[in-house]
Amino acid sequence: MIIAVDGPAASGKGTLARRLAQHLGLAHLDTGRLYRAVGLAVIRAGRDPSDTGAAEAAARALDPDMLDDPTLAGDEAAQAASKVAAIPAVRAVLLQFQREFAESPPDGAAGAVLDGRDIGTVVCPDADFKFFVTASAPTRAERRHKELLNRGETSIYARVLQDLRERDARDSARNVAPLKPAEDAIVLDTTDMDADAAFATAARHIEAVSSGGVPTG
Ligand code: C5P
Repeated sequence: MIIAVDGPAASGKGTLARRLAQHLGLAHLDTGRLYRAVGLAVIRAGRDPSDTGAAEAAARALDPDMLDDPTLAGDEAAQAASKVAAIPAVRAVLLQFQREFAESPPDGAAGAVLDGRDIGTVVCPDADFKFFVTASAPTRAERRHKELLNRGETSIYARVLQDLRERDARDSARNVAPLKPAEDAIVLDTTDMDADAAFATAARHIEAVSSGGVPTG
């Protein structure tokens, strides 16, 4: 079983994907970490994340161990990620990694949940289930701001909102695999929905379809 979970930054897609994977015993891949790792590797090499040659080389040399680096959660990595993500050659290299994960999930898992921006549209267009998780920009910025404060980091709400809008604009406007819901995705607007409610809605839908019942949406 393959489940695609897409959506903009801080929409709650990562939490939903993790919970679905745990609930259904599937492997989980946060594909944003791949782009973040490439972005950070380019910065660490002293190059600009928009530099096509440097970004492609970093994607080819990507070390899977780097995916556990805590620095990937930071905003520097996020901004660099959305720059390298607009480069077609980078996407082509990472596409292969993501498809291999979906087709042969690690540890013999019976399937995989991938979350990102283009899983339902490009990486796994034949996924069994597709969810597009979204929320208003101020709500998402508020969540990210609280998350940063809880981690003991300094954060200014207005700055977080601005960064998020810049990233949304870059991710939606790029020519290759832009952020958009797949035509057959179920859209979950979490502006007024907490993580438990989003999970319950998605899990109910999967159960209804899997048991041959009427899909909910
Ligand atoms: O999901 P996350 O915020 O970690 O993603 C970081 C950046 O990586 C996004 O802003 C986007 O530019 C890029 N990305 C992408 N396609 C994916 C996952 C992430 O372009 N499937």
